[in-house]
Amino acid sequence: MGWNFRIGMGRVMTEKKTTSHTRIEGLRGIFVYLFGLSGIINILALTGAFYMLQIYDRALTSGSISTLIALSVLAIGLYLFQGIFDILRSQILVRLGARLDSRLAPLAHEVVIEMPRYGYSTAEAAERGRDVDTLRSFLAGQGPVALFDLPWMPVYLIFVWLLHPMLGMLTVGGALVLALLTLVAEVLTRRHARSMVKISVTRNAVLDSNTRNSDVLHAMGITRRAVERFERANRRHLECQTRTSDIGGTLSGISKVLRMMLQSAILGLGAYLAIKGEMSAGAIIASSIVTARALAPVDQAIAQWKGVVAARRSYHRISETLAVLKDKSALIDLPAPQQNLVVDNITTVAPTTGAVLLSDVSLEVRAGQALGLIGPSGGGKTTLARSILGIWPVLRGSVRIDGADLGQWTDAFFGEHVGYLPQDVALMDGTIAENISRFAETPDARKIIHAAKTAGIHEMIVHLRDGYQTELGPHGTALSAGQRQRIALARALYGDPFLVVLDEPNSNLDAEGEEALTKAIMAVRERGGIVVIVAHRPSALQAVDMVGLVQGGRLTAFGPKEQIIQPSKARPLVVEKSTGGERQKSLVGE
Ligand SMILES: Nc1ncnc2c1ncn2[C@@H]1O[C@H](COP(=O)(O)OP(=O)(O)OP(=O)(O)O)[C@@H](O)[C@H]1O
Ligand SMILES: [Mg+2]
Repeated sequence: MGWNFRIGMGRVMTEKKTTSHTRIEGLRGIFVYLFGLSGIINILALTGAFYMLQIYDRALTSGSISTLIALSVLAIGLYLFQGIFDILRSQILVRLGARLDSRLAPLAHEVVIEMPRYGYSTAEAAERGRDVDTLRSFLAGQGPVALFDLPWMPVYLIFVWLLHPMLGMLTVGGALVLALLTLVAEVLTRRHARSMVKISVTRNAVLDSNTRNSDVLHAMGITRRAVERFERANRRHLECQTRTSDIGGTLSGISKVLRMMLQSAILGLGAYLAIKGEMSAGAIIASSIVTARALAPVDQAIAQWKGVVAARRSYHRISETLAVLKDKSALIDLPAPQQNLVVDNITTVAPTTGAVLLSDVSLEVRAGQALGLIGPSGGGKTTLARSILGIWPVLRGSVRIDGADLGQWTDAFFGEHVGYLPQDVALMDGTIAENISRFAETPDARKIIHAAKTAGIHEMIVHLRDGYQTELGPHGTALSAGQRQRIALARALYGDPFLVVLDEPNSNLDAEGEEALTKAIMAVRERGGIVVIVAHRPSALQAVDMVGLVQGGRLTAFGPKEQIIQPSKARPLVVEKSTGGERQKSLVGE
């Protein structure tokens, strides 16, 4: 799965180059430091071998106890140093992981939030979110220690070489064979890691879809089938995991055996050289200890290779992910809008498939006006609403408020001047007050109550046991569909935004709710705001003065309400093949 915005990517990518990489590259200094630290640790790790050499060749031959004591004290000192540096290194790595996490997690989460907007499943988005976790836990584990030790292997090779060139050659040969094994591990694991991610996303997608459809599964008795579907996905996941672990296990077994053989070979060769009188007995033991230490990181790297590959993939994906984040830091706050909304010849494509959903739509709504969008189901009303709000980037054309293109708007601008009620209302986990105030840091009670009253839901809220502090839980399911819709309406109206876009706000409303809606639209118009409302039922159009007819991805009619909704004129406009046509005709006929 490549991070692709597919369509619109060019636009997105060119806008967003700067920030991301610097965020990771700032850490290069720490890596250099860790590399140096590893060098010291590896040199100190020769202590054991030196001690052995000195004991055999000096203490034993001279028979001096004081030399023995002096050597031992020195060795203990060096061991302690090595231990301290080792602890230091692992602490640095843990903190590096934590620092990366705290820097990257919020940014990665920002992208995770954006992904569903571009048609990615929640499972795919969640997988991206886990990248930061993968990287952090890798850095805190044994993997990086082995990787930092690997480049210091030559230190040991030189040491062995100095003892005797033949021993050196044997060790180098062994190291090359083990390095080859690491390469094999890399190639095999990488291929599997890729399919592993795909399979795990598929499994999580099934999981996600099953949990979201819990009601339907129960009501229609298809729970068993849902479980089977999950079982199949899970089995594939397991198989793949077994295969990957098998590769790691086999290669690590081979490398262990090879390493033991190599160590014995060193000992054997050493003995041969000692018999020939070319080397001392101490050198045999010392070379054996040093080769063991030299090859340990290779062994460990092979055992950890799965983690190495996963961490590297995560690192690359995080870099890619951050590269698409929009750098909005350069934008300046525009003055509060007060004139108009202009949609200038826009074409919108589906981010997932690239299919053209809306083409050549132009319209203008001035302050104090309300535009009703009507048309058959699947005609493109929601798509137009999404394009106006920049949820989907437009391929061509532009959307402007008071002359400023969407691209110039900061998040704060959207937050202050735009209200949106989506077609599928889902409230967020939190209280009613938090939802209405859009989780404002300093919620304004007066504004919350004003918005609730305008949406006609204040009475209902205060009748709840906890009133505005009622916890809504996942997706606000503690409330009825109509109540949720009205709270979402209050949220859209909070803070009197200039542009209020309502996508079928009345689909779950009773007569009283619709009356409140009509009043709310009138109120926005009176204070000089703009309302764009998508509606199937004519009752929602009472308060609008402009109407646009969206069908087949085009705005086929646009103008004052009286001109568009006039049985004699409008009827021919809506006779189209689309499925929702019947519904539309009844609207026009009324
Ligand atoms: N995420 C998407 N990816 C691809 N195509 C999409 C996507 N969302 C909508 N479409 C397509 O866009 C077209 C217009 O959909 P849209 O939701 O805008 O219709 P609508 O007019 O709002 O319909 P309704 O009245 O049923 O809400 C449909 O043909 C639909 O299949
Ligand atoms: Mg719609």
